[in-house]
Order: sequence, then C-alpha cells, then structure tokens
Amino acid sequence: MNKVIINMDVEQATINKNIYGHFAEHLGRGIYEGIWVGEDSAIANTKGIRNDVLEALKKLDIPVLRWPGGCFADEYHWKDGVGPREDRKRMVNTHWGGVVENNHFGTHEFMLLCELLGAEPYICGNVGSGTVQEMSEWVEYITFNGESPMANWRAENGKKDPWKLNYFGVGNESWGCGGNMRPEYYADLYRRYQTFVKNYGDNNIYKIAGGANVDDYRWTEVMMREAGSLMDGLSLHYYTIPGDFWLGKGSAVDFTGDEWQVTMKKALHIDELISKHAVIMDRYDPEKRVGMIIDEWGTWFDVEPGTNPGFLYQQNTIRDALVAGVSLNIFNNHSDRVQMANIAQTINVLQAMILTDGDSMLLTPTYHVFEMFKVHQGAARLLVDASVEALNCGEEAFPRINVSASKNHQGHVHVSLCNMDYSQDADVTVDLRGGQPAKVQGRVLTADTINARNTFEEPDLVKPAAFEDFTKDGNSLKIHLPAKSVVVLSIRD
Ligand code: AHR
Repeated sequence: MNKVIINMDVEQATINKNIYGHFAEHLGRGIYEGIWVGEDSAIANTKGIRNDVLEALKKLDIPVLRWPGGCFADEYHWKDGVGPREDRKRMVNTHWGGVVENNHFGTHEFMLLCELLGAEPYICGNVGSGTVQEMSEWVEYITFNGESPMANWRAENGKKDPWKLNYFGVGNESWGCGGNMRPEYYADLYRRYQTFVKNYGDNNIYKIAGGANVDDYRWTEVMMREAGSLMDGLSLHYYTIPGDFWLGKGSAVDFTGDEWQVTMKKALHIDELISKHAVIMDRYDPEKRVGMIIDEWGTWFDVEPGTNPGFLYQQNTIRDALVAGVSLNIFNNHSDRVQMANIAQTINVLQAMILTDGDSMLLTPTYHVFEMFKVHQGAARLLVDASVEALNCGEEAFPRINVSASKNHQGHVHVSLCNMDYSQDADVTVDLRGGQPAKVQGRVLTADTINARNTFEEPDLVKPAAFEDFTKDGNSLKIHLPAKSVVVLSIRD
C-alpha cells in the first residue's frame, strides 16, 4: 500500500530555481563540438555556439551554468582565453584526455552562452595552480565598470560594459584534483583568495567555497568553523556510481536488474549525505545563511566502448532518468539548505542532457526529466508525508516511491513521483489535503526495457507522454504508476 499526503496549504522553503542548474567543463566533447563549433562551422551557429543545442537547452529554462570546471578549473588560466582567437595560447588538458585545448571558448564565449540561454554564470576560479592576483583580475575583468587595467582590456576585446557575475567558486575539489589539500590548509587559502573576489559597483558576488567529497564530514566541519562567516555557499560533490570508481563503475547501457537496484540505492544516498552535512552546517549557521551547493552530481559509468577514456562519454537510459528524478525530488525536499545543484555535465559528458554526433544531436531521458521538473523552479515546497512500500536490495531496502511537491506563484501545485521499481507497477493513493483540486493533468516518462535509450537511429524512443492512469475522487487521487517511471502531475483549483 503506497500512500502520499500532499499538504497543499503547508508551504515550506522556496525551491531555489538554481537547484535546476547545470555544469559544463572543458572535458571531452562537452564544450568543443557539444556547444562550441566556431563561427566558420558548417553546423548552424550563433557566433560559434551551435544553434540546435542552444534551442534545446533554452527549453529547460537553465537558471545557472557552472564553468570551466571541475578539475579543469584549477589548471585554467583565464587570460589565455581572451583576445583574438587566433592568438590564444594552446595548452594541454592534462586531466581530460591529454588533448590540446585551443582556448577558443573563453570568458567572452561563456558569457555569451549564458546570455543566449538566459542563465546566470557561475564561474569557478583557479586556486590549485593560479594566483590570488589572477583570480582577482578575472573578477575585475568581468565586472569592473570604469577605468582599470582589466576593464580597459575587456573593452579592447570588444566588451565595453561589464557583465553581471553573481556566482563565483573559489577552487574546485581542493581535497583532490584541485590541490590535494587538507581542509585546514584550504580553509586558510579560501579566506585569503575570497578577500580579493571583490564586489565592484552594484555587482554582488555569492562566494562558494570548495566543499566535501561525498561523506567527508570533517571537511565540512573545518570549513564551517574556519571560514563559514566568509562564504555564501559551500559545495558538495556526489556521483551515483553503481560499481567501484577505480575497478569498474559499470556499463551505462548493459546492466542487470540487480545493478539497477544498486544504482537507485546509491542515488538515494544523497539524501543522507545532505542531512548529515546539514547537521554540521546548522551548528555553525543555524539561520541557514550559507547555502549547500551540490555543484557536481549525477551518474558516472564506464565510458562507451571505443571512446577516449578521458572524455567521460556515456549513454543515458531510463535508469538515468530515474536517478535524475529521485535526486531532484531530494533536492526539492531539502530546499531549506540546498540552494543550488549543477548536474554533470550538460553535453556529451557523464549524465548529459544532449548527445551529439557531428551535426546530429539527441535529447537524453535525463533531458526530459529536467524539462518536466522545471515547474518546481522558484515554487514553494509543500509538506509531503509518504508511507510507501519497500524494495529489497541485498540486505538493505529502500522506498519504492520517491516524491516532492511544490506550489507556484499562481497557486498551481506540482507533484513529481518516481517509481524506482524496474519490474512492478505501483498503485499510489495521493491525498491532496488543504486544497480544492479541480483539474489534474499529468505527464509520464517511462520505457519498456530497463536500458531503453535514445540513439541517433531512434532519437525519440524515450520521451514524455500524457499521463492519464489515475482517477480522482474529491481530494483523493488513485494513481497507477508504471514500473520505472517518472510522473509529474499538475493540479489546479
Ligand atoms: O565531472 C567530472 C569531474 O568530476 C570534475 O572535473 C571533478 O570536479 C570531479 O571529480
């Protein structure tokens, strides 16, 4: 018996639209080919940015985009990526495939991309191999209005007026690829670097400190204790990896039902991670001023056979869609502390929205979940009570159904439900308490097989459809959720 009570009149913290954020790193075919093709490309583009991808991404209402890394951020020197493209320095992308990075996609190109998408830029600065001066000058270059060396240089490079820059990350994974630091050391570096990330004019930067990897609670403790008052956000990274990171993560497409179960269980683990990191943050910041910024999350599988192992190219199935739906529901349900999340990574890398092959592109099942869930952006989270059946996974069990609900400014309620069971449909009773639901509509994303995916031959195999498998009796809905499905209901008075 699965029963869900949606308290339509009990509004909780607003779901920050930035929970629906994205991340694009200089990695594999993410930026080059995926986004940037150059102005001379045969692929239709706007000042070098491919139009097909742009149009598809626009439909997601991407609120914020993180760039240029990732690990790449701590070896990126932004000055190499401005000025005439033909003069830009070429470098080796040592983290990702050892390929040559020609720096054709730099600050101006990224800001243009954000402008075209209507997304806010979130730039991650270089602490690992960069200087305080370099970071400080990047902020000056982007945001200073008036006479200054960097503002003058920006104008020479074709942009007289400054941009707005709201989000700035001070380093990435400083415990690992960003410098292998101890939290005590990074906390001091953070204090120093962030001092020179200045607010010029009316530009106000939300400073994000590099946070913990998975369950490194000591990292969070030290950062909050030593630098909590100097940050606006603290990041957390967690990837859903069914296997072992080093010994074999598991195939993106060729997996068993048991591997599906393990994947769901691992996706749900982020709920515990958020709760436990939040307990530490609460001790130092009971007002919840500092946001938890989950600026890297998503599935991480073995690369597709025959592709460059450093390019992290993986296919995307209905299993990824469930991981996306479950994770977004969890973020919604922690809207009091989670203020941003950025799925890794937008195009052709890890759990991507879009895959490209030359001039073709396809939308992944994950894309469709983001498109279906965008109704939650900026809405008030509603209090939900769920009493649902358990699914066994080895010695452990996890809930079959995962859910979140919100009410938007027009008073429309949206409920997103995931049935994580890959083989059984589920009957769910949803009580809509405290409202007068007159009209209910739904959309569903599901598939016949556990590894169903869109391919360049069959790009529309997995896509949303109207959902009508429910009956309404007063304030109660009886819903029949297909196995392995994501459903979003829209409820109006
Ligand atoms: O998203 C891929 C990589 O994962 C990022 O570059 C890094 O920050 C993380 O380890």
